[in-house]
Amino acid sequence: MSKATIAVLPGDGVGPEVTACALDVLAVVEERYRHSFTFHEGLVGLDAIRAEGTAISDSTFETCAHSDAVLFGAVGSLPAGQARADGPRPEQALFRLRKELGLFANLRPVHPFEPLYGASSLKPEHLKGTDMIFVRELSAGLYYGRLESVPGKPSEIRRTAARTEAVDTLLYTEEEIERVVRAAFEIAEARASRLTSVDKANVLSSSVLWREVVERVAADHPSVAWEHMLVDTCAMRLVRTPADFDVIVTENLFGDILTDEAAMLTGSIGMLPSASLGSRRTASGMFGLYEPVHGSAPDIAGRDMANPVGAVLSAALLLRHSLGLDQEAAAVEAAVEHVVRDGCRTVDIAEAGHAAVGTREMGRRIVDRLRRT
Ligand code: IPM
Ligand code: MG
Repeated sequence: MSKATIAVLPGDGVGPEVTACALDVLAVVEERYRHSFTFHEGLVGLDAIRAEGTAISDSTFETCAHSDAVLFGAVGSLPAGQARADGPRPEQALFRLRKELGLFANLRPVHPFEPLYGASSLKPEHLKGTDMIFVRELSAGLYYGRLESVPGKPSEIRRTAARTEAVDTLLYTEEEIERVVRAAFEIAEARASRLTSVDKANVLSSSVLWREVVERVAADHPSVAWEHMLVDTCAMRLVRTPADFDVIVTENLFGDILTDEAAMLTGSIGMLPSASLGSRRTASGMFGLYEPVHGSAPDIAGRDMANPVGAVLSAALLLRHSLGLDQEAAAVEAAVEHVVRDGCRTVDIAEAGHAAVGTREMGRRIVDRLRRT
């Protein structure tokens, strides 16, 4: 039996709906496998801004920092007209958690299910054999140009009488590159031992340093067949020959963009889970934050339409990486696959002319399947 404390941050938009399904799944795992999970729910994003004046309060942050894992839903954008340049923004919750909890490696597996090949915008023959994982650097780069604590890293709009200009800073230290590249090589060793490091070394100095570090780390992992690839080439190959990739490691912004592109291979961004890990250990794994890759989707929020699979598979990653519960994680993944194979589809993955189920029904079917495993 495992005991664990899990911070739950459902957040905005469809976040609460999909997180509810992930929690139902974890409750079944608890009961079936006799574990004991303690959940602490907190506010993030728009609700936190309204109630507490900040996207994540110190006390919610501390709750996360003292848990074994964080289950995260989504954070939205402020409605048009309400955003003040210097005011709190919902995404700040994510940036603070990623940075201050040291979560530098964002794992995003992309493994299209065969029954969903028809839902993808790619032809099935291109999808066959596709099974890759992105390791996106998550706590540096352009996203953190804003940190006032780091002088010389501006990210601002400057308006003077003479002109208006804007600047963002893309800064990486060698250590920031090395730790994520090492994590990616280790993941490659446990998989098919192929790694693609993605950069823009023909333009960016940060990418030239990135290559240097990759070459050094590669020497410690002789069994991994690896290559450098420019980000534009990678964007093209992802839709031309996706099955050629195994592990892809890249910097923060490239990883953000490429994973949305790769999500389309699975049929919908609603299918993709993610795990954000650092170097802090828990009793039987690594501390981490788990969230579906889709955002808050305000257009469908509260309408029982969102696909809960990304959130449920994120809960599976939580079981595996933070709690060391491999068998339980595999059972959750198998339940999802079974339900999809059975023809159960939310609207984002339903083929034209086929009936779709709602978020709750999809969640209920996964839970039923898991109970019967
Ligand atoms: C993601 C999201 C976030 C990011 C947004 C919400 C700031 O797109 O997790 O991929 O860009 O990192
Ligand atoms: Mg994104």
